[in-house]
Amino acid sequence: PPVRLTDYRPYPFVIKHVHLDFFLEPTKTRVRNKMTGKRSFGEHALMNLDGENLKLISIAINGLAVPEEEYEITPEGISIHMPAGEFCLEIETEISPETNTQLSGLYMSGGRFCTQCEAEGFRRITYYPDRPDVLAPFDVRMEADKDAYPYLLSNGNPVRSGNIGTDRHFAIWSDPHPKPSYLFALVAGDFDVYTDSFTTMSGKETPLAIYVDKGDSDRSAYAMDALKRSMSWDEDVFGREYDLDVFNIVAVRDFNFGAMENKGLNIFNAAYVLADGQTATDADFEAIESIVAHEYFHNWTGNRITCRDWFQLCLKEGLTVYRDQEFSADMRSRSVTRIKDVIRLRSRQFAEDAGPLAHAVRPDEYARIDNLYTATVYEKGAELIRMLRVLIGDTAFFAGLNRYFDSYDGKAATIEDFLNAMQLSTSEDLRNFARWYSQSGTPTVTAKGVHDTIARTYTLTLKQHTSATPGQPDKIALPIPLKTALFSGKGRRLSTKLNGQANDEHLLILRDFEQDFVFTDVSSAPIHSLNRGFSAPVRLVDGLNDANRSALAAADNDPFAQWEGLQTLARNILLEMSKDEDGDHKDSLSAFIDAIDEAYTATIDDPAFAALILRMPTVGELILDQKDADPSKLHATRLKLKRAIARHMQGSLVATVQHSDTGVFDPSAAAAGRRALKAAAIDLLSGLQDEHADRIYESFLSAPTMTEKLSALNALANVENGGPSGEYFDKALLAFEEEWKDTPIVMDKWFSVQAMSIRADLRARLHRLCSHPDFDFKNPNRVRAVAAAFAMNNPVGFHAPDGWGYEFLTDIILKVDGLNPALSARLTTSFESWRRFSPDRQAHAEKQLRRLDDANLSKNAQDIITRALALS
Ligand code: ARG
Ligand code: ZN
Repeated sequence: PPVRLTDYRPYPFVIKHVHLDFFLEPTKTRVRNKMTGKRSFGEHALMNLDGENLKLISIAINGLAVPEEEYEITPEGISIHMPAGEFCLEIETEISPETNTQLSGLYMSGGRFCTQCEAEGFRRITYYPDRPDVLAPFDVRMEADKDAYPYLLSNGNPVRSGNIGTDRHFAIWSDPHPKPSYLFALVAGDFDVYTDSFTTMSGKETPLAIYVDKGDSDRSAYAMDALKRSMSWDEDVFGREYDLDVFNIVAVRDFNFGAMENKGLNIFNAAYVLADGQTATDADFEAIESIVAHEYFHNWTGNRITCRDWFQLCLKEGLTVYRDQEFSADMRSRSVTRIKDVIRLRSRQFAEDAGPLAHAVRPDEYARIDNLYTATVYEKGAELIRMLRVLIGDTAFFAGLNRYFDSYDGKAATIEDFLNAMQLSTSEDLRNFARWYSQSGTPTVTAKGVHDTIARTYTLTLKQHTSATPGQPDKIALPIPLKTALFSGKGRRLSTKLNGQANDEHLLILRDFEQDFVFTDVSSAPIHSLNRGFSAPVRLVDGLNDANRSALAAADNDPFAQWEGLQTLARNILLEMSKDEDGDHKDSLSAFIDAIDEAYTATIDDPAFAALILRMPTVGELILDQKDADPSKLHATRLKLKRAIARHMQGSLVATVQHSDTGVFDPSAAAAGRRALKAAAIDLLSGLQDEHADRIYESFLSAPTMTEKLSALNALANVENGGPSGEYFDKALLAFEEEWKDTPIVMDKWFSVQAMSIRADLRARLHRLCSHPDFDFKNPNRVRAVAAAFAMNNPVGFHAPDGWGYEFLTDIILKVDGLNPALSARLTTSFESWRRFSPDRQAHAEKQLRRLDDANLSKNAQDIITRALALS
């Protein structure tokens, strides 16, 4: 049965203090857990503690062994008869980190002990009320072999360490901030350490350290720099200061997702820590900066204020993603960051919202909590915070946040608590806004404008509609804030009046299903520009014709709106071309290419932005606008369009490719932008098949950075058949492997570039990758480098008409599930859009989903399979 929000009951005991004692051995780790506390209400004599895969050694209350009839081991944990009054409960258990392939709880990675407890991993370490609303200060002592595990780390502040005899040693850590168990962490092993320090705004010098594989410490410099910038940004923008004596980050190679915000001891997937120009792409640097910031920002939004229950996950995640996006916008180009965030939202969250896995940002039931770490909770959750800020204004927004921090510090809160704190700072009624948290699905806003020459008015009629989603057949109207401007036919932004207020940009708030907005003082028929800056996470049918849209794209001063206008033109022309394959589409094509060329020339001084202008909507995005989609056809159409652009702009594209920064590597946004533009140019030129193969191969060989190497390799991967590019691709792969075979994070790129290729030998290649000696079903990064890269980023291959792509992924899921259910469930979500495709494809996908359904997989995977197969 699912867990329901309405079933929430407070825990009837308080834990005043936890003392954990670890005796670390790979297959037999002893955990002594001493909890002091008391019953907080009611007459519950039974105390239920969660536990999973634990071997109970002993249990005592107030120093006396508990007789067997006083407790019961249940499928979920243990139930203990408790005496009245204060208690000291001591439980000793044994676990085997070495054989823990789920990577949840205490496990081993590269010969080191590490933990992952969110959401429910702590119960795999010891018996405990493993729920986010039980907060306690933790003291941790651990001991281990001294040579094998020289560094012993946990949350909070270091207290003491020392030797035990000649071979072993111990360390004691104390975390004064009460925390839920999901924020617990422990690490033991050998590392290189990159150190630095940060002086907080109240003048406290805080040592910082990043623990990485031997030999990797130089590659931690960028993460450290990002950490220090995050610490100072959170002080400057949100007034939040760090609150412990030390801050540590540990990089591990085996990790189920990006990183984890454990109090004072963040644990990271090594892929999001290590970087230098030789081994990491600019996208990696960008991801590192944002994930380091994200985990650090959780110290306030997540740790100091945590969630009452897991339904409130967006309380910490949506807000923290919003904060990391704002940080990146301040560190880099605000408009380029915004565009990338919107691309990500649309490709992942809109797809989720449009399929069988759709759920609310704050859902009201779930089968498996691990499956709720979704694009909707994270990315749409962040959009809701941004929208709230637009709706109530900066002053109320920051006042409300300060009130939230003041009122809930040290507590486990809910979305209602958050909205109440905001409500006290604004006159805007937030009750309707709260619907955004409970209603799933992406609203579509449709616009129609009518100009009245005599009255000099422009009446904009806006409608909203949200399609039914699983469990929610009927939808209510949401408040949708749309930043709006009107332009003259010549592309001049008009100052107009709305409700008597003159402005050249207005905020329209669509509150009903349909509403008219009347602008006055509009002398001639204008062109409207809606949802500027993507002020609301909606789909927009703006009612403009392509001529008006081109005029806008050329004139708009809002970079997001300009980019969006061109993307919409591109989407329209791609869908038109794929509907009518034999037509020549000459007029619309040449108008479109002129618009792109013009925008490119106009923005060339901002290369990161120009690169986005050259990027055409992906097959994955186009599918969202289609029924019975045929990805091969969409891909072919897209290629045709890219080819036409490349033909037309060949001269300037070649010039861009020939450009290369010289001198020392510079990871800044400006230098990254130049490389992004070069990559976009190479990508377009590769559309001309073998014409530019020599140039691209040459650019691979001489690439001074990983970004340039990989963009050339990607281009070679996507030249379809035969010709010199084919040989170049294989030669380049061989050279790459030779150079990087001992650096796993770089080799992941080697695996994924092949999994994303569309060459004719793709299927055989994938099988070769899976039987490569370095392929490892136990390592999530490696599995994802092949399986997720293929299923999520190679629509042509994955949706192959004869179904082999679905079968390949299914075979992998079946192998992974027994080892790592969280990973297999994540891979299974690749089937989420299966009903959008052509009937033959649907039949093949359904066959594989049934195969998974029959295989008796983990609860995590089964939850996804069941929902994917359900009739909506
Ligand atoms: N809280 C972590 C982060 O956002 C992610 C934890 C993911 N946990 C999970 N079970 N999927 O930074
Ligand atoms: Zn997070």
